[in-house]
Amino acid sequence: MSRGKEIRSREFAGRYGHGDLVEEKDKYLFARETPHYRFNVIGTGTMGLEHIRVTMLEGRATIHGVYDPASLSIENAKKTFANWSADELTIYDSIEAACSDPSVDGIIICTPNFTHVDVVRKVAAAGKHILLEKPVATTIEDAYEIAGIADKYAAIFQVGLQYRYKAIFTEAIHEALERKTLGDIKTISMVEQRIPFLDKVGQWNKYSQFSGGTLVEKCCHYFDLINHFAQSKPVQVYASGSAAVNFIEFEHEHGKSDILDNAMVVIVYENGIRANFQLSMFSPMIYEEVVLCGDEGHLKAWENQDFLPGSALKSQIEIHAGESRPSRITSPSYPVIIEESGHSGATFFEHAKFVDNIGTGVADGPTPMDAFWSVVVGVAAEESVARGEIIEISKLLDEKNLSHLL
Ligand SMILES: NC(=O)c1ccc[n+]([C@@H]2O[C@H](COP(=O)([O-])OP(=O)(O)OC[C@H]3O[C@@H](n4cnc5c(N)ncnc54)[C@H](O)[C@@H]3O)[C@@H](O)[C@H]2O)c1
Repeated sequence: MSRGKEIRSREFAGRYGHGDLVEEKDKYLFARETPHYRFNVIGTGTMGLEHIRVTMLEGRATIHGVYDPASLSIENAKKTFANWSADELTIYDSIEAACSDPSVDGIIICTPNFTHVDVVRKVAAAGKHILLEKPVATTIEDAYEIAGIADKYAAIFQVGLQYRYKAIFTEAIHEALERKTLGDIKTISMVEQRIPFLDKVGQWNKYSQFSGGTLVEKCCHYFDLINHFAQSKPVQVYASGSAAVNFIEFEHEHGKSDILDNAMVVIVYENGIRANFQLSMFSPMIYEEVVLCGDEGHLKAWENQDFLPGSALKSQIEIHAGESRPSRITSPSYPVIIEESGHSGATFFEHAKFVDNIGTGVADGPTPMDAFWSVVVGVAAEESVARGEIIEISKLLDEKNLSHLL
């Protein structure tokens, strides 16, 4: 059946019976698009399941198979996939097998941070499109190696810095960098207040050696956003932080947890922009905020998930442009079905971008070098907390023979 221009909403399809009310042959408005691409997921813990969900929800691609050494993660992948498709999910017995399957177009890597560099080396050898979760690596050296692999890669190599696709940040980026509503940005403030790190398979996220430390593991998202708003390279990072509340009693097979649960980070950029980031991971909600001050305006955007009755996700963007242009306060959002698919809808739009990029052959969105710089700021912040000193980025990169990047 050829299709017209009617609105085809996933939300309507869910509410009014996408699956059951009419036979497949009779479907028109709620007919599923035939997927153009097949993806395999490597690592099907929390984030791997989210990628299965958004791939199926978005609809232009499907999940073909998965590889994960943990049997519970495989079972969870099968259950998640079965919510969307009656097809059988292929279960591979190695990364190599998952990557060499000729029926597959792309590989989504959702393994723990410390495994990324080894997994990428293996996956890249097969040459398929890659979507690699953040942080790209736990060290500056590994992040640089991955950026090098991506630079020479013939297929799409996309990094999972999907906070850029959260509604508030998409709008803030548009205002600040495309419309230039604020004039020249001078200061950037970012806040994350949230619940503690969740349980993970093997509890890798409680140890800096496996996660890169809190300021790399979680905060690479915010450092990427701050770097992007600054449009410049970081020159100095100073941070103070501690483990004040979380996981003080935690002990697992690798011993006691050594990660931070709060920090204040100050970043100075080459172009004179100053930024600060504040993290608290012992809040009964998830609150994110950015405040940008330019020489022609002020922008504040925030998103709050407080788990109270009513709409779970609340968001706002305020733009004050003084007396020369309109100011406004709005609530950027996506349809509920998309917001609820994970990370306020950001993963869905990251995935949509991955599919677009495969179609066009041009990798639009945050680059592997952007991911590298987000790791640089995270590592510098972790080192600053440990040493109690300002970290000069030139010195840090010089120690790793990477001073040519400045
Ligand atoms: N973009 C985001 O907002 C976001 C959110 C959460 C997690 N992440 C990232 O996603 C990745 C996975 O995190 P998670 O929360 O799903 O962790 P998780 O512990 O829930 O799942 C990781 C899975 O990978 C599997 N695994 C471990 N080593 C593997 C290997 N060598 N090959 C294949 N599978 C392997 C584990 O068995 C587990 O099932 C991490 O890099 C994390 O930082 C990103």
